[in-house]
Formats: sequence, structure tokens, C-alpha cells
Amino acid sequence: MSEIDLKIDVPKEHWDRLFSPPACVAMITTVDAEGRINAASFATCVRVNHEPTCIAFTVDTYKDTCKNVRATNEFVVNIPSFDRQILEKVRVVGLPFAPGVNELEKAGLAAIPSKIVRPPRIAECKSHFECRVEWTKEWLNRLMVVGRVVAASVNKDCIDRDGYVLFEKFKPAHYCGHAYKNKFVASYDVMEVDMIYQGPEAEGQKQ
Ligand SMILES: Cc1cc2nc3c(=O)[nH]c(=O)nc-3n(C[C@H](O)[C@H](O)[C@H](O)COP(=O)(O)O)c2cc1C
Repeated sequence: MSEIDLKIDVPKEHWDRLFSPPACVAMITTVDAEGRINAASFATCVRVNHEPTCIAFTVDTYKDTCKNVRATNEFVVNIPSFDRQILEKVRVVGLPFAPGVNELEKAGLAAIPSKIVRPPRIAECKSHFECRVEWTKEWLNRLMVVGRVVAASVNKDCIDRDGYVLFEKFKPAHYCGHAYKNKFVASYDVMEVDMIYQGPEAEGQKQ
């Protein structure tokens, strides 16, 4: 089975469920104006709106990801697992390679075509969010980018039939420690908690 056969497309109504937890380590792929692939690692990826599903991140303005997003208005957020092998590659993708260098090749990661946008998906990641830029804001020496998800896909074994993430398979990671060295953290305890407030504001919140 090829790597692309591991992926299933996720319907729009489940995109919000799939980006869970709403902030996790990601590798963002972009292309430059000539179509050359770029990848970079990010700890600042956050889901910032439910409908439409939107994902934000911040990037230093001198970085290739920033230039490519400004040039093309497209990016793909790829979520790796809390597994040593891929997190080691996250660190390689986070190194300052020269513009035009394909970090996926440097890290030994495979590109597979995206469904809608030009930047590729990273085969070894578990979920993928193809985004078009909704808005950006430059502040300090960083660019805040908010992208609207236009397609999402996930490894078949990582979600249930309602589109909820199966954390023991998906194993999202978080970055911790000082920027951006070698420490990652993950926790997959899932707990359903009761609604203990009985007033009208809690209507529809019994579960
Ligand atoms: C785990 C990890 C998380 C990172 N998070 C960010 C981030 O949120 N924002 C950022 O600007 N750089 C971040 N970096 C650093 C970039 O990945 C790095 O500067 C990279 O070389 C940028 O590549 P580019 O010039 O191709 O965009 C992170 C690096 C690692 C290893």
C-alpha cells in the first residue's frame, strides 16, 4: 500500500474536530513563487475559529515560510505524532536551510500532493490541513498568519466514525522548553466531565 492510500479525506463538518488538541507541533509546507517546496517546524499553530475552521501561526518575517505565504497565500499544516523518529525530523526541518532548499529531502520525509493547494502534504504526518490565507498581521518582527482550511485529511486509523481524534493512535505532540530545542510533551488522558450547573445558560450542555 502506498503512503497516499493511508489517507482519507475528512468532510468539512469534521475539520474542527480533527484539529485536536487545538494547539500542537506542526510542520508547515509552502511553495515559493517558482513552486519550490519549503517546510518548517512550528510550535505556535493554534486553531482559532470553528466555522469556518481557521488555523493561525506566527513566523519571523525573514523566514522562507513568511515570504512564501506572502507570495502564494497558501500553506499546509501537517501534524506529526509523539514518536521519536518523526520528532527528530521535526528538528531537522526546523534548521535554517537556505531559500530554495527542500527541507523534506534534508529530513528524509516524503511529499505527497495536496488535494487543493500547491504546497504538498508530508506523508509521515498523521493529519493535514490545506489552508488559504484569510488575513495576516505584522507585529514586532513577526507575521501572524490566519488561514482558512480548504481541505483536510487524516490517516484512516486515527479518527472514529464521527470524526473525533483517537488520541492513542494520533498522538499529537506539544513543544515545551526554550525556543526551539529538543523537548516535546504529550498527554492522552481523555475524560468526559458532567455539566454541574443547572441554569438556562447550560441548556443543550447535558453531555
Ligand atoms: C519544534 C520547533 C518549533 C518551532 N516553532 C516555530 C514557530 O512557532 N515560529 C517560528 O517562526 N519558528 C519556529 N521554529 C523555527 C523554524 O522552524 C526555523 O526557523 C526554520 O528554519 C524556518 O524555516 P523557513 O525559513 O524555511 O521558514 C520552530 C522550530 C522547532 C524545531
